[in-house]
Amino acid sequence: MNNNYKNYKVYIAGHRGLVGSAIKRRLEKSNYNNLIFKTSVEMDLRRQEQVEAFFEKEKPEWIFLSAAKVGGILANATNSAEFIYDNLSITINVIHTAYKNKVKKLLNLGSSCIYPKHSLQPMKEEYLLSGILEPTNEAYSIAKISTIKLCKYYNEQFNADFISVMPSNVYGINDNFNLETTHVIPALIRKFHLAKLLKKGDFASVINDIKTRPIGFNLNALINCDSEKIIEYAFQNIGISKDYVFLWGTGEAYREFLYADDLSKACVFLMENYNYKDIGEFINIGTGCDIKLKVLAETIRRIVDFDGEIKYDISRPDGITRKLLDISRIKALGWKAETNLTDGLKNVYEWYVGNNKCL
Ligand SMILES: NC(=O)c1ccc[n+]([C@@H]2O[C@H](COP(=O)([O-])OP(=O)(O)OC[C@H]3O[C@@H](n4cnc5c(N)ncnc54)[C@H](OP(=O)(O)O)[C@@H]3O)[C@@H](O)[C@H]2O)c1
Repeated sequence: MNNNYKNYKVYIAGHRGLVGSAIKRRLEKSNYNNLIFKTSVEMDLRRQEQVEAFFEKEKPEWIFLSAAKVGGILANATNSAEFIYDNLSITINVIHTAYKNKVKKLLNLGSSCIYPKHSLQPMKEEYLLSGILEPTNEAYSIAKISTIKLCKYYNEQFNADFISVMPSNVYGINDNFNLETTHVIPALIRKFHLAKLLKKGDFASVINDIKTRPIGFNLNALINCDSEKIIEYAFQNIGISKDYVFLWGTGEAYREFLYADDLSKACVFLMENYNYKDIGEFINIGTGCDIKLKVLAETIRRIVDFDGEIKYDISRPDGITRKLLDISRIKALGWKAETNLTDGLKNVYEWYVGNNKCL
């Protein structure tokens, strides 16, 4: 490895998010000493003029593009226009401006949602565009597929070095725990944790949990509520009670989960050692193992130590039945995930109860 990389000016777009914050931790641990970042309030990546001014001034040499509008099945299905507009405008602005400013290398974070709804399993890179997409996240998937192609065309026409990675479902610290917009793991952790507090009658901790992080479903209004009955009723309305927790779907679907710190290690490893010609159009990053959501729910229930029942709301969609990545190519390049799911989940729950706020 070329140690000069450590002095490169590296811009992490989305450094406060689940994946971006893990990339930041990884680079800091590896003694990268010239990292730059801006929050979405300081620079809105959907605004081309702001992106151009930033690149002009800072001249980054490497970019990790992990800024995106991300959400679970509910957010995706109900805000499709925002998902396609935000994600396309962010990536078009950053990628085109990176090319104009002769950025040495860029890593684009895609998602396993790019694969067809009825894809063969495990999903190989060559299955892209081989069938129709899952309708619940079609807008997001189309934005992600367009960005893969954007990188590919800039590489081919302008000799850029923009690499794309497709991780499976990611979980870790700094995740989004807003129950209206989140993914399955943070949702399960928060629901079981709140149900445990309700069972103990620890209403002060319930209120503290709401104050600590956005929760969604207008539950923030409970902050000033001193009626235990109203608090119990409000949570029951969203399927959380002292005796049970309701989960979306049948629990029969399978998913693959990757710890964010394993993903960030893979991203830095690829940036340091490979270029787009080695990687091709994009490369999958996963663990190679999946788990039935019912089993995942039971595992998290035990870690959180909630001794109530798990109920399933089968009127809600499951999404794709199975989404397992074929990881032969990244394995052949010399990378594999290191964190087993139970250890990763324990780390996240420990962080969740010990940390006062999301970064
Ligand atoms: N989470 C997963 O399971 C998963 C799985 C596979 C792939 N990925 C990919 O990984 C990438 C990052 O996902 P994530 O889970 O880390 O998302 P996240 O936690 O929601 O973080 C997204 C980040 O993007 C930034 N951002 C959003 N809109 C922006 C805007 N208009 N201008 C500037 N910054 C903006 C936010 O910045 P602020 O905090 O400053 O507002 C935030 O830090 C995405 O491309 C996603 O597709 C995620």
